[in-house]
Amino acid sequence: MWDAMETAQPATGDTGAAPDVSRKIDYLALNREFTAGVMGPAVSALTPERDGPWRVLDAGTGTGGALPELIELARGSGGSVLAVDLDADAAEVAHTLTVTLDAGDLAEVRVADLREVVREARASGELFDVIWAADVVWPAAFGDPDAVVAKLAGVLAPGGVLGLFTANYYQSMFLPGHSRIERLIRTASELTWGIPSDGPAHYERLGAWMRQAGLEDVRLRVLPVAGPMTDPVVRGYVEQIVWPEMRHAVAARGRAAGMSDDDVARAGELLDPGSPTYAGRDPDGYAVAPMLLWTGVAGQPYLQAGGAARCRRCRRRAEHRKRVVIAPAARHGGSVTHPRLESSGPVIVVGAGIVGASITYHLARAGAAVTLVDAGQPGRGVTASSFAWIGASGVRTGPAAALRRTATAEYHRLERELPRAPRDLVRLAVLEPNRAGPRGRLRAGDHRRRPSRGARARPAAGAGVGGVGTR
Ligand SMILES: Cc1cc2nc3c(=O)[nH]c(=O)nc-3n(C[C@H](O)[C@H](O)[C@H](O)COP(=O)(O)OP(=O)(O)OC[C@H]3O[C@@H](n4cnc5c(N)ncnc54)[C@H](O)[C@@H]3O)c2cc1C
Ligand SMILES: C[S@@+](CC[C@H](N)C(=O)[O-])C[C@H]1O[C@@H](n2cnc3c(N)ncnc32)[C@H](O)[C@@H]1O
Repeated sequence: MWDAMETAQPATGDTGAAPDVSRKIDYLALNREFTAGVMGPAVSALTPERDGPWRVLDAGTGTGGALPELIELARGSGGSVLAVDLDADAAEVAHTLTVTLDAGDLAEVRVADLREVVREARASGELFDVIWAADVVWPAAFGDPDAVVAKLAGVLAPGGVLGLFTANYYQSMFLPGHSRIERLIRTASELTWGIPSDGPAHYERLGAWMRQAGLEDVRLRVLPVAGPMTDPVVRGYVEQIVWPEMRHAVAARGRAAGMSDDDVARAGELLDPGSPTYAGRDPDGYAVAPMLLWTGVAGQPYLQAGGAARCRRCRRRAEHRKRVVIAPAARHGGSVTHPRLESSGPVIVVGAGIVGASITYHLARAGAAVTLVDAGQPGRGVTASSFAWIGASGVRTGPAAALRRTATAEYHRLERELPRAPRDLVRLAVLEPNRAGPRGRLRAGDHRRRPSRGARARPAAGAGVGGVGTR
């Protein structure tokens, strides 16, 4: 929760003190130790529904709480990691960690606002296959956490995964045996951070924000961290981080949270190491902290590519010379998550404009035998008159914005898949303000250029008459 240090408003009432964030690096290190055991399982849940190399973003890396696991994930796919944090000191520790892990070549640590990184990714079209944000997106750090989730979701490549991990601090047991006092202290702590205890910006709404951002297959996993106070890691985290934060919350906002004088005195006895009834003296003391991992997947707007496709539910690899994979039109178990549609025979596509050509290409890539037919010359219908632009600028919010983002991402995917595609057959312009380079700016006369009428399609294996290049 130390991520709030830049933005938390000083609380009013009681002493009026905001949380003490002067030991942020210690906190991050102890937190990393405490949660180390669940980072492997958490990160291994983040498998994009596309082949590597994977581009991984660690948004708000801190001192690199999950960097070792994220680096392994990227390394296994031949990909890379970009770790960003606002805090230069924390980023320095994370950078040292990448050197220790001998990952200097594939991991970059940058001091930056994650929203700036999102803006850059949108402008360049260099999307992420995995985005990890652990204890970063919550209302004390961002006034509009739902919008931040939407921004992160907007720079996921199709099939990419967003993982929002949260230590679920306020639902943990750090004072077992004293539940009423602990609940009151929780409320006091929320007040010190100035975070809402209700409503659409409540910190427990990560899953809702993901769904609102248009992510599919939004899921919750609970990864418990628990141990006795005799475990030095548990004791270190509880005594050095949790209880001091609780002591502060009682002093600063205890009464505002409804604590009586007796409650404040009792909390003092339990949390003061000098007290004879200090909770740390309890030989049977323990801590339970259920870590939450929310994951959501960016949709695959059209057809999944060949044998790499997997069903999100059953995880079965789609083996289909005869089957065709279409997403997300097919429904599975009531939600639009299952991309599989079976077809037992060859497919005929009528009309070789851009729509028929695209359908043919993707069907053939998915393994279908496709015949594309046209009454006249391929590409001579409306497609021949099109400016063939994808306007990525202008609309930044709402459904049209999401459509534009998807179209831009799809365009870049096609660019990668078809590096030698005839650009004059279907020439796409992605218009983004402030983007350097010929593709980023509309050049004088661009709107007057037309797809070449003489463009000839390459015949493709699996595609028939007038087939527009497929494989
Ligand atoms: C001036 C202009 C500018 C545009 N600019 C843009 C732009 O910048 N960005 C953008 O996204 N969109 C733009 N559009 C829209 C875009 O061009 C069309 O939406 C798109 O080309 C439609 O493609 P299509 O494959 O559906 O149709 P078509 O290209 O018309 O293809 C249909 C094909 O089907 C064939 N056909 C028809 N009937 C039969 C039949 N019975 N049997 C066999 N074959 C048949 C035809 O011969 C034709 O080849 C523009 C449109 C115009 C007119
Ligand atoms: C609680 S820490 C978690 C760090 C790390 N993810 C981990 O699990 O160990 C939150 C981190 O997010 C960073 N942070 C908060 N807002 C940020 C922003 N807008 N951009 C980048 N980093 C941010 C903070 O500086 C802090 O290091």
